[in-house]
Amino acid sequence: MPSHEPRLSAAAREMRFSAIRRMSALIERPGIISFAPGQPSPETFPVEAFRQILDEVVEKESAGAFQYILTRGLGDLLTAVGEYAAAKGMRARPAELMLTEGSQQGLDLVSRVLLDPADVVLVELPSYIGATSAFRASRARMVGVRLDEEGLDLDDLRRRYRAESAEGRRVKFLYVVPSFQNPSGISHSVARRRGLLEAAQELDLLVVEDDPYGDLYFEGDPLPTLKSMDEGGRVLYLSSFSKILAPGLRTAFLLGPEEIVAKIEIAKQSANLCGSGLDQRVILACLRRGLIEEQKARIRPYYRSKRDAMLAALEAEMPAGMRWTRPGGGLFVWVTLPEGMDAEQLLEAAVAEGVAYVAGGSFFVDGSGANTMRLTFAREDVPTIREGVKRLARAVKARRASPERVSGRAYPSPDG
Ligand SMILES: Cc1ncc(COP(=O)(O)O)c(C=O)c1O
Repeated sequence: MPSHEPRLSAAAREMRFSAIRRMSALIERPGIISFAPGQPSPETFPVEAFRQILDEVVEKESAGAFQYILTRGLGDLLTAVGEYAAAKGMRARPAELMLTEGSQQGLDLVSRVLLDPADVVLVELPSYIGATSAFRASRARMVGVRLDEEGLDLDDLRRRYRAESAEGRRVKFLYVVPSFQNPSGISHSVARRRGLLEAAQELDLLVVEDDPYGDLYFEGDPLPTLKSMDEGGRVLYLSSFSKILAPGLRTAFLLGPEEIVAKIEIAKQSANLCGSGLDQRVILACLRRGLIEEQKARIRPYYRSKRDAMLAALEAEMPAGMRWTRPGGGLFVWVTLPEGMDAEQLLEAAVAEGVAYVAGGSFFVDGSGANTMRLTFAREDVPTIREGVKRLARAVKARRASPERVSGRAYPSPDG
């Protein structure tokens, strides 16, 4: 058999399955309580409403529902999404808006139209792995900016930007998930958001704002999006119906500067011609019936009680010397183990106890974060969350008591 390796592009040679995907294969075992997957709970999907809507779409539109649609998206849905975004303070002209098959496709297309090899993208430490994979596929250089409980460290942002520019490198954009971030659960405060936009203005920086979780807030009012605060036309905004409705409908939208959106449309044409007209018709019906707002009101308390259970269990079970975030929404809690404890190595002991999580190191583009982990409260029910945290605490305590018990790396390193 010939070797096809030499035929691969330079970019393909660097492609790797994500650490999460590799770990998922190892931990999807019966009896394992999993805090690992970054998925919404299927219990929240309004399946009966989808069935009725699908019946009606097929009844009304017949074969037309199965035809190609425009690359930018179904016209009526574009109009409805424009109104949906406007209701959140984000006004967009039609030329500034388009639909994608999930925000993941949006991120991939953004990379294709903005990045050349060796261009710099500034990302949060930690950052969403799907985005960093898309940027890596364009062979960009990713530079991490510190994140604290209030959001992006703006001094670090300025420092990193200036250091890259001083080396003659082009910083193409800053990528952020400002609300209930995946993986950390952190949200940027309103003051930090304002400061971030001021820094973007000062540094002449484009900001790519990825916002799949902003509607999943558990208390108070929703946080304003950067896009809604953006007076300088510097924000390219992406959001998705995956987490509030269902990811299987593969429908998301982006709004941003017209010149960029026009190029994204051309790139999308060569990527997949168009999205799914059937999926987009279902989303349109959901918007018209008010189902999306109903759904948001239903799933916020659903996830809130799970978050509360996880935080209470962490408080009750975990030994001293550990920290975790207290997210006001979203799907994730971010745990920092005592200094020197490696979350990837601990996973072996945790799986032996019957609990799984995602080790945090692969979310950091600078190789740090070995003592961090991402826990999702989305998947398991409240009693199982309590039991899972107990098991995790047992693994941590045993590791502390006898660090030599876990030897070697049970799982491949995130980069290899
Ligand atoms: C921060 C972030 N952005 C984008 C996505 C992609 O979502 P989708 O492609 O389903 O819209 C996800 C999914 O987990 C995510 O967490």
